[in-house]
Amino acid sequence: MKDIQAYIRPGMLKLQAYSSARNEFQAENGIFLDANENPFGTLNRYPDPLQLELKARLAEIKNVKTSQLFIGNGSDELIDLLIRISCEPNQDKIGILSPTYGMYKVLADLNSVELVDFRLNDEFQLTQELVDAICTTNDLKVLMICSPNNPTGNCLDVQLLEQIFQRFKGLVLIDEAYIDFAEQESWIARLNEFSNCIVSQTFSKAFGLANARVGVAYGSEELIGLLTKIKAPYNVSGLNQTAALNALNRMDEIQEEIAIIKAERENLIAELSKLPLVKKMYPSEANFILLEVENAEEIYNELLSKGIVVRNRTKDVKNTIRISIGTPAENEQVITALKNRS
Ligand SMILES: Cc1ncc(COP(=O)(O)O)c(C=O)c1O
Repeated sequence: MKDIQAYIRPGMLKLQAYSSARNEFQAENGIFLDANENPFGTLNRYPDPLQLELKARLAEIKNVKTSQLFIGNGSDELIDLLIRISCEPNQDKIGILSPTYGMYKVLADLNSVELVDFRLNDEFQLTQELVDAICTTNDLKVLMICSPNNPTGNCLDVQLLEQIFQRFKGLVLIDEAYIDFAEQESWIARLNEFSNCIVSQTFSKAFGLANARVGVAYGSEELIGLLTKIKAPYNVSGLNQTAALNALNRMDEIQEEIAIIKAERENLIAELSKLPLVKKMYPSEANFILLEVENAEEIYNELLSKGIVVRNRTKDVKNTIRISIGTPAENEQVITALKNRS
């Protein structure tokens, strides 16, 4: 087991957290005159700052302890907090495996932390050389790993990831925003082997709650305790906690929706592969596909003129567009729009 204190800013270890009224006292009934709330109204009380009901349900489903769970205002919040507990501004660095999710760079910039970019190979995969380079670079406090990766859609090699978890001298974030659409298992099951790893998941994708902003981090009690210490007191609203709990109570329907999205993804890949304008289709284990075309800018604008909004990813991977999987009717419209053009 690694001593994770070596990767945490000394100031964060010493920090005295704010203790909110609802942190100090929480009960169903009573005369609450402790939090300067308004006694009138329906949303007048602060929510549970530790989201205990949601954590209890998640812990049951994911087979972890509630103390290994952190709930954030979307997973973007917890990625930001992870950088803040570990990186001294203008001194430490974070690593990314590009092309990848753009927020890692934005959050590095926001925290005045240098970004070291390790480029994946042509299949957007790790290689032994890349793993060696990552594990021998100094001052890297966090490595951001996105698997399935956005915008490429693929999962990263399990054996090479294991090597990183064992050898990397810093914290590792495994961003599993799209894991419910993948064949690969979540790394949550193996968290006990890797004390420096945090897995993040979200209610925004497979659970259909992007509007509610609920992200979840899974990790050691020690790391989760540090994130909890530095978070804003009431970082997830009561409405959003309830929305997430309700989603967990309709798992059967959600599994059916995931199955439809996965089937639609394969159909979209098969149909688009037939079109001459598509130069390359990348395999996907997410709820989107990346395709290379002759001129991404042109295709993007043409689809836009037909009211279909996709993402032009040329700045990450030349001449590519990323298409999210929609309803069967929406996907049909994309196929027709592109067919009519070919
Ligand atoms: C890889 C990845 N991580 C995290 C997020 C952010 O998710 P959330 O809505 O939970 O903040 C996204 C959103 O698109 C994403 O693609």
